[in-house]
Amino acid sequence: PEVRICIFLIRFERKPFEVCGNGWVRSVRPQKENLFLHVNDGSSLQSLQVVASSELNHRLLTFGSAVEISGSLVTSPSRKQEVELQADQIDVVGECNPVDFPFKIKKKHGLEYIRQFPHLRCRTNAFSSLLRIRSEATAAIQQYFKEKGFIQVHTPVLTSNDCEGAGELFQVEPAGQEKNQDEEGHQHFFSVPAYLTVSGQLHLEVMAGAFPGVYTFGPTFRAENSQSRRHLAEFYMVEAEISFTQSLEDLMKVMEDLFRSTTEHLLDQCPEDVALYHKHVITYTEAINILNSSSKKFAFKTDWGCDLQTEHEKYLVKHCGDFPLFVTDYPYALKPFYARDNQDQPLHTAAAVDLLVPGVGEMCGGSLREDRLDLLKTRLAQAGLDEAYGWYLDLRRFGSVPHGGFGMGFERYLQCVLGVDNIKDVIPFPRYSRSCLL
Ligand code: 4AD
Ligand code: MG
Repeated sequence: PEVRICIFLIRFERKPFEVCGNGWVRSVRPQKENLFLHVNDGSSLQSLQVVASSELNHRLLTFGSAVEISGSLVTSPSRKQEVELQADQIDVVGECNPVDFPFKIKKKHGLEYIRQFPHLRCRTNAFSSLLRIRSEATAAIQQYFKEKGFIQVHTPVLTSNDCEGAGELFQVEPAGQEKNQDEEGHQHFFSVPAYLTVSGQLHLEVMAGAFPGVYTFGPTFRAENSQSRRHLAEFYMVEAEISFTQSLEDLMKVMEDLFRSTTEHLLDQCPEDVALYHKHVITYTEAINILNSSSKKFAFKTDWGCDLQTEHEKYLVKHCGDFPLFVTDYPYALKPFYARDNQDQPLHTAAAVDLLVPGVGEMCGGSLREDRLDLLKTRLAQAGLDEAYGWYLDLRRFGSVPHGGFGMGFERYLQCVLGVDNIKDVIPFPRYSRSCLL
């Protein structure tokens, strides 16, 4: 019969249905005549039932131990699984002392407990599932952009720019003071201060001068001193830049399409229909009006011109029906130098858009980019950045095109679709202020 079994568990077949494979023991049930094991190899949530003679010495076959098994794959008499492995031989490759192992058989451990063991948490069902989903979502995102004809650009991790201008930079120099000064007395390894990237956007904008659509998907770093459930010091961001684009609608279409197609891919096998397809669009000014006419007391100010905080974003999503919500046209002063001026005095907003999602708040941020040389020049000069960004002005001088783009926090995407409360539970090795384990 055609059956779904662990992929790697079955390493080779000697004769038809005679197999040998490896995995980790998930349960042990000694009964009168038989010993029942469940063995998992990490390829899926499903474990393979293994039946052995109860005469087998099973002292070392404990929860978490690594085993090699050979035997025959047969149709299972139980309705719980289609096939089972009748073991001729089981060898314990790696023992696992159940007293010391932090996870206990049959016990459902909370994510907070599991998080204390960054080196062992992939042995739990909850976390191994997450890792498979992360991997699948990564493939889906790559597939989406490939199908749409985008070019993937490996934007650098080391850079001299602070794209967001928020000063949340990790500076990078060789370890050891003495190395920081070379024979010519240079202070910095790269002559100038270098940082871990906070966004690949400016490099994508370079490429948007030669390609209609480009994207990058890689680690991003922010020295944010926040102990929140949605900020990491190192996270993965998907960023796209689209040329010959003059409207936020074009950007919103790609943001929505990426979200939808990645999620559809993830839910391919799931029967549940999620209401991800409903969406709403409001302007920042409308959002402020909604917040100000609410009876809820917010901890942070909701005056026009204030940045939306997590509490505001979550309220707005709930208020608009608990569906993904686009908020457009933020105050110009809140946005970095690159955002396109809407020139709508006296309000003065920028053509920027955030996508807020249930349970998380901001998941994507994007904008049209300022493509008018004179306006960009003035803004950079006002910020004292005109010297450092001479190259960026050049992009507007030579064959410039109207363009825009956005960034999607990959961990926040996963938080949203999986309903995970804490961002530390959707990344293999979380880094945040005061914590860099392993
Ligand atoms: O809104 P942000 O700061 O936008 C940019 O970096 C633009 N340069 C992107 C672009 O237009 N190419 O960040 C984009 C997204 C946020 O919406 C959020 O989902 C995620 O990145 N993000 C974080 N995720 C986890 N931890 C942090 N500290 C994050 N900071 C931002
Ligand atoms: Mg943002």
